[in-house]
Amino acid sequence: MFLQIVLSLFGGLQLLQPVAAHAVPLPPSVDPFYQPPPGFESRKPGEILRSRAIDIPSSVTGASRGHQLLYRSIDSHRNSDAVVTTIFAPSNEPCTEVLSLQTAYNSPATDCAPSYTLRSGTASLPEQDVIPMALKYGWCVSIPDFEGPRGAYTNGLQSGYATLDSIRALSRSGNVTGISSSAKFALAGGSGGAIGSEWALELMHEHAPEIEERLVGALLTALVPNVTSTFLSVDGTISSSLIPLSLLGLSKQSSSFADWLAGATTPNQTSSFFAATTSCADKFGTSFSFRSSKSFLRRTNAVLESVPQSTIEKVGLMGRHGRPSIPILVYKGTQDRVSPVVDTDRLVTEYRSCGVQIEYRKATNAGHSLAGSYGFVVGLPCRVDV
Ligand SMILES: *[C@@H]1O[C@H](CO)[C@@H](O)[C@H](O)[C@H]1NC(C)=O
Ligand SMILES: *[C@@H]1O[C@H](CO)[C@@H](O)[C@H](O)[C@H]1NC(C)=O
Ligand SMILES: *[C@@H]1O[C@H](CO)[C@@H](O)[C@H](O)[C@H]1NC(C)=O
Repeated sequence: MFLQIVLSLFGGLQLLQPVAAHAVPLPPSVDPFYQPPPGFESRKPGEILRSRAIDIPSSVTGASRGHQLLYRSIDSHRNSDAVVTTIFAPSNEPCTEVLSLQTAYNSPATDCAPSYTLRSGTASLPEQDVIPMALKYGWCVSIPDFEGPRGAYTNGLQSGYATLDSIRALSRSGNVTGISSSAKFALAGGSGGAIGSEWALELMHEHAPEIEERLVGALLTALVPNVTSTFLSVDGTISSSLIPLSLLGLSKQSSSFADWLAGATTPNQTSSFFAATTSCADKFGTSFSFRSSKSFLRRTNAVLESVPQSTIEKVGLMGRHGRPSIPILVYKGTQDRVSPVVDTDRLVTEYRSCGVQIEYRKATNAGHSLAGSYGFVVGLPCRVDV
């Protein structure tokens, strides 16, 4: 078995390497790799539709191989879609431990997905240092575009399904990636990345029960359990750009939400607001920081209106879709201004009361970004004992 994997691995590499050598990456919106082949709807969620070898970006130190898979998944309405994940391996040995790292790319723009920004060198992901750290432990790392092909930022259903299907795809990718079919997986994510990770835990029983035995644990930092609460909390603060980014992300899979949003934005702000669909979160953020939502939404507390609330009820509240069944480490700052600590307290209490095994650590006086990042320093080594 071991020899078979190694042989097919080398076979695969020989086949794929000349194609990928020094290729300048194309953005997802124009790269044919991202387009699912005709008839892909008849494939099962988690099936691999396409694969390729990629050059290792200079930011990813310690990787010896890089690959991407296009796999079949579903959106929040259970319609077929196709999602890309990017995999780095620390050596040419078969991989038996994989970290599924959901990153906080926080963008409603197709071309800001990590599968592209990592390769083009334009990524400014808070978790970028986690990739070399995990490779050093000998793990493979998978970074899925869990917001789906159109950047459904803060849509929990899309994020969870895409994350679960990436693990299914990785489990059958051995002849391409060297990941063993019996490999164990850990999930990790902070803030926007914790949306993919947490919703995957909630939706596992409904969508992908067979992967439970291969998931060993999850690290969730700077959780954002309630999108409405975040809207109210970040208004006028350094993080206020999350309001347009999230509203645009939520509008991607709901035409009634999109119609509502078109009418809710202040007319002379529409073009700068909608710029978030083409400019990545780090660049867009500077233009909407410290803004009151009153300056770009026509009505006070527009996010509390019935149209946005009915979408948020379905895709923006954690803890309503299923009980996680693997051990979880939750790391949260008590001074989080993006998502108040009480929301995470409530979620953890609910889960614990149903028997979920959670270690809940709080960083006293730490805010959202600090606790979000520091949680990885604290949490990753704890998960080595897979
Ligand atoms: C890997 O195996 C699958 C299923 O057996 C096959 O369809 C695919 O072409 C193989 N890929 C490579 C790169 O060998
Ligand atoms: C989410 O936050 C809003 C605003 O703070 C609050 O009214 C609502 O009750 C919260 N929902 C849940 C399920 O905690
Ligand atoms: C946009 O319009 C509002 C009134 O609706 C006004 O208060 C504001 O100054 C305008 N901003 C710009 C940049 O023109």
